[in-house]
Amino acid sequence: MKDLSFRRHRRLRQSASVRSMVRETHLHKEDFIYPIFVTEGANEKNEVPSMPGVYQWSLDLVDTEVNEVVELGIPAIIVFGVPNSKDDVGSSAFHDQGIVQKAIRQIKENHPDLTVIADTCLCQFTDHGHCGVIEEGKVLNDRTLDLLAKTAVSQAEAGADIIAPSNMMDGFVAAIRHGLDSAGYTDIPIMSYAVKYSSAFYGPFRDAAHSSPKFGDRKTYQMDPANRLEAIREAESDMEEGADFLIVKPALSYLDVIREVKDFSGYPVVAYNVSGEYSMVKAASQNGWINEKEIVLEKLTSMKRAGADLILTYHAKDAVRWLQINKKGEK
Ligand code: PBG
Repeated sequence: MKDLSFRRHRRLRQSASVRSMVRETHLHKEDFIYPIFVTEGANEKNEVPSMPGVYQWSLDLVDTEVNEVVELGIPAIIVFGVPNSKDDVGSSAFHDQGIVQKAIRQIKENHPDLTVIADTCLCQFTDHGHCGVIEEGKVLNDRTLDLLAKTAVSQAEAGADIIAPSNMMDGFVAAIRHGLDSAGYTDIPIMSYAVKYSSAFYGPFRDAAHSSPKFGDRKTYQMDPANRLEAIREAESDMEEGADFLIVKPALSYLDVIREVKDFSGYPVVAYNVSGEYSMVKAASQNGWINEKEIVLEKLTSMKRAGADLILTYHAKDAVRWLQINKKGEK
């Protein structure tokens, strides 16, 4: 025993205060972006059955939700629309009186300092549920680009601070950048869903946003979960086309990809902790099988450790509350 030589890693773990001194990764309220679903009508606060604690809000009520976010000090929300009317090209996505445009106008008026991000996609707005224009059963890339650019410009006109295109058509960042610049919105950043996998983890979101494809799947435009190098190619083209932030989505099963994209790009990288990742934690904690607070803070910390600068998460409000409690001396 006496002559054994080994390193004593436990020296730095012996007390809460020493552990806090050598902690490498910290979560802050400024790391979070909170998703909000807005719906038409009045007096609607509908809990999404597969996402306990997440609601669709009509515009007369949504301010209660936004106020909570602002009071917690979360700097940004992303707005998803649940429209009444759908058609084959998703016209309500780029209508001046579309649900997203109305929501952005109202929220910016009441909360000018909150950063409002617009999700720019067509799937919630098309009657077939795909993210682009369909012809002979195929999603047409280039014809969809015009509609995306139009959608982004109408969201910017409504007051969106950041445009977040999520539909995975090739060239969507170039088309949107060009559209925004031509309309005079040269200062509006693009937070591109650069690396978006075709994932079963989006299931609960499609309940929340009523955006499931009516036929087929999204595998011709979203990425194969088996691919890592392709993520770099996707990130690279979005950088070339003018993206300002790069989203990797989902997050938890793709921490390796977050790290690669961060190292490769040096850009602000956003981890999208998606609906299925949220619902699994909720279901297990409602059954008393896991400690929700500890699991959530552990997984959000892991995303930052993997290289994410920002985290888009349905847990944001809870996480900020738990962090405040921890600051007061727990842990
Ligand atoms: C729209 C969009 C989706 C999500 C965000 N934007 C769904 C999809 O691609 O089907 C998923 C978010 C989540 O699961 O939390 N294209």
